[in-house]
Amino acid sequence: MKRDRLISRPTSATIARVFGRLEYRRLGAIYCYEGGNEFWRAKRQPCLRLGRRVARALLARLYQGGRSLYVGAGVAELPSLLVEALDLRRLVCPYNLRRPEVRSLNRTCRGTSVRFRARDAATAGGMFDHIWMVSVLNDPERFPHLAPLSYGRADPVTFDPVKFQRERRIVQSIVDRCMAKLRLPGLVTVSTEEVVWIADWCHRKQIPYLVERQQYPTALVGDPICFIQIGGRLFRKLESLKV
Ligand SMILES: C[S@@+](CC[C@H](N)C(=O)[O-])C[C@H]1O[C@@H](n2cnc3c(N)ncnc32)[C@H](O)[C@@H]1O
Repeated sequence: MKRDRLISRPTSATIARVFGRLEYRRLGAIYCYEGGNEFWRAKRQPCLRLGRRVARALLARLYQGGRSLYVGAGVAELPSLLVEALDLRRLVCPYNLRRPEVRSLNRTCRGTSVRFRARDAATAGGMFDHIWMVSVLNDPERFPHLAPLSYGRADPVTFDPVKFQRERRIVQSIVDRCMAKLRLPGLVTVSTEEVVWIADWCHRKQIPYLVERQQYPTALVGDPICFIQIGGRLFRKLESLKV
């Protein structure tokens, strides 16, 4: 198993400072229909702690100076974004379609090199050696007919295959357009429930991939995160990683 690396002290301090500056009241209204304050009171520390843990795992897997595309990034992604930008000197491009959240996060991240964009991540320019796409493809708000099937909670009496099919096409199109930006060999970070979409893309493109066994818990959406190594001289590299 790949050994996680330590986050530098200055970066750790920056992450704590950014979490201290987050506009929790505003974010509460974006993340929750009601009870936003209680939500963040309960989630703030776990989000920071678990975010740091994933960021340490990324430190051990990514190279200095590469580029990362973050599809649907929010508060949970801040530790990873900051560690990549500060400790690995990588270019990070976080995208999120929720404009008020993007505005709020950019106010909070002022003074760092992390800048969120309120656009479809598929419009990002250039290629990336890491794509982060967590809880985007099975978002129950956006895909109410697909998410229950993903989570094994679809009701056979009310399940609507036509609406499901429409949502599946949208999800596949997000995957196709974003994955086209992955330089091989590359790394994809997803929730465990979303692995199937990336695996499907690899099969269709006949690209080898390996889903790492290690999983990392998350604080906000609840699904754990895992890493998928994709393409290139993958298997020799994986042998040395002993995943
Ligand atoms: C359920 S939230 C997950 C947020 C965060 N990743 C987390 O785990 O807490 C899904 C997010 O994906 C964003 N999203 C969906 N499709 C996107 C796309 N094509 N480009 C950028 N953001 C996208 C939405 O705007 C939303 O903020």
